[in-house]
Amino acid sequence: MPKFETVVVETDLLILGGGMAACGAAVEAAHWAKKNGLKVALVDKAAIDRSGAVAMGLSAINQYVGLRDGANSVQNYVDYVRNDLMGVTREDLVADIARHVDSSVHLFEKWGLPIWKDEAGKYVHEGRWQLMINGESYKVIVAEAAKNALLQTGVGQIFERVFIVGPLMDGDRCAGAIGFSVRENKVYIFKSKATLTAMGGAVHVFKPRSSGEGMGRAWYPPWNSGSSAYFTLKAGAEMTCQEVRFIPVRFKDAYGPVGAWFLLFKSRATNAMGGEYMVERKSELGKWGPYGRVKPIPANLRNYLGMLDVLDGKGPIYMRTEEALKKISDAYKDDPKAYAKKMKELESEAWEDFLDMTISQALLWAATNLEPEKRSSEIAAAEPYFIGSHSGASGAWVSGPEDLQTGETKKDYFWGYANMTTVKGLFAAGDASGASSHKFSSGSHAEGRIAAKSAIKFIVENNTAPKLDQARVDALTAEILKPMETFEKNQSASTDEDVNPEYIKPRMFMFRLQKIMDEYAGGVTAQFTTNKPSLERAQELLAFLAEDSAKLGAANLHELMRCWENVHRMWQAEAHVRTVLFREETRWPGYYMRSDTPTLDEEKWHVFANCRCDAKTGKWEMIKRPILHVFAQPKPKELEPALAH
Ligand code: FAD
Ligand code: ADX
Repeated sequence: MPKFETVVVETDLLILGGGMAACGAAVEAAHWAKKNGLKVALVDKAAIDRSGAVAMGLSAINQYVGLRDGANSVQNYVDYVRNDLMGVTREDLVADIARHVDSSVHLFEKWGLPIWKDEAGKYVHEGRWQLMINGESYKVIVAEAAKNALLQTGVGQIFERVFIVGPLMDGDRCAGAIGFSVRENKVYIFKSKATLTAMGGAVHVFKPRSSGEGMGRAWYPPWNSGSSAYFTLKAGAEMTCQEVRFIPVRFKDAYGPVGAWFLLFKSRATNAMGGEYMVERKSELGKWGPYGRVKPIPANLRNYLGMLDVLDGKGPIYMRTEEALKKISDAYKDDPKAYAKKMKELESEAWEDFLDMTISQALLWAATNLEPEKRSSEIAAAEPYFIGSHSGASGAWVSGPEDLQTGETKKDYFWGYANMTTVKGLFAAGDASGASSHKFSSGSHAEGRIAAKSAIKFIVENNTAPKLDQARVDALTAEILKPMETFEKNQSASTDEDVNPEYIKPRMFMFRLQKIMDEYAGGVTAQFTTNKPSLERAQELLAFLAEDSAKLGAANLHELMRCWENVHRMWQAEAHVRTVLFREETRWPGYYMRSDTPTLDEEKWHVFANCRCDAKTGKWEMIKRPILHVFAQPKPKELEPALAH
């Protein structure tokens, strides 16, 4: 067992993660920290230039409200999000992000991000809320601004390739974090007065569709493994919407985005028989209360209609790319030169959409001789992911801003500092904070800024250094390094490193977790369907898995990271299974179906389903929290015209 050096870092604000929310947090924190003479440290498991979900770049900014044009209001956005999430959303949080998001987008442009403009100089919209960008270098641009803000002001330090395992506590206050370098034999102890977790969501909790030579390929980035959920759960924070996983419908096998095709190119999706499920199955929408009547139709209901076709044996489902491109170019058909030019332009936009953010989809098209102007492409529902910033909602339960609360909401939604979890000094943003979906890249950046400003305020008003119990730190250090010790002690017990009676390698551990979730918690194999006995069986098997996690074995630092990534995934899985079990209805068909409670139950379940794991006893508690409104609600009859695209 190699010797590990312990590095102790003392700071005021600790930002965990280096993605969109963390980069936003860095920019804002640097400003307020400088004013108050405070220090900031940012820690990422990777290099922030290309870390997180935006690593490959993006082809659109999915949240832009455009307040300066007067076309939309904050309330319009809140209505859109609430409807898309089947009524379950924290309006105060969504509104807070919506009123700040445009300024993040304008900063991106100032920092050098090319946003498409039309001849009149106006942003080109993909849809009502989405802007088209040349986004291959989106993350590099956003990271550069974060680095400049922290390093050029002298207030900050950045630690890259340091994997954060879990929280350090001083009683009921978060006192920092513990982790290790993935390149050197070093354990890091970060002591802080406030900590902002922004380590993304989770993938590979469920068995992916991609296997064999495609293993590891998923829509959500493989390096976000549930560290935010683990961190907040282990600190004892209340979590929300842990049942609201996201299932994106994507170009099959390489997970290319569909937004540009549906919204910009106005493509249809049809089944193998040529039928259009959004038209043929429209009557199904009537079964889902007021949410089946809104526009746009909620993402999970759009998924559901397609899934019904697949269940009926009408798959594959196709994105009708050739038809969509023809329809657009037909307007030019009387002028052959203009027609050829338009076709070339459309073709290049179609390829760029993938090259900007899902390069492997362009490679798959090329490898299979697929020309989008000639032939349709298969699309399919992906495996479930945990991503509170997109069309899922899982994350920590955080305080809203004070000024947006009404007399009725303040008691339930506000506890002193915007974006603070229920644990003192622990803040969350991006995928790490829940019930505020559809923030995407830009909204996550804006939310990171909101949370960082608020965390600095917390530090100014609670400016005492938390105390750490050294015995606890030593015990955590030993626990974190244990997989390396377990491997070293037992490696000679078998001839194959991967099979050993005394340890389990992280890869095998992950396969076991994924199989449990896939089969019992409504993964692809189970057609996204589950029920009480299945969920209880999942819990039983997860308990065995948790026992075996004490026997994880790591041959090197990289595997040590893999061990802890999978422990993080296991905790995300546990929170998910418990919450799906708790909510006795089906609210998001298309994300998951409970076959034993197959309908919407507005009377009992128009609530947030929250959970918490007691940090001391390890006991889980399930909690219902009310859904309250900060805006007047549109009357059902007004919904359609008010929200039409
Ligand atoms: P991320 O940006 O993913 O950052 C998470 C960070 O945490 C990373 O830096 C990671 O390295 C770090 N981290 C994770 N675990 C640890 C650990 N244990 N220790 C230390 N650091 C850790 N949005 C748009 O606006 N437009 C789009 O076109 C669009 N397309 C998307 C396409 C895909 C495939 C995906 C997955 C998302 C897309 N989004 C899009 C959404 C957007 O990318 C996310 O909403 C946004 O990145 C969330 O920000 P975040 O900071 O929470 O997470
Ligand atoms: S991305 O994250 O990979 O870019 P995607 O391409 O599906 O996601 O969608 C981009 C944006 O378009 C998101 O805001 C999504 O909600 C929206 N969107 C995608 N398809 C549709 C659709 N058929 N109707 C309405 N909105 C859609």
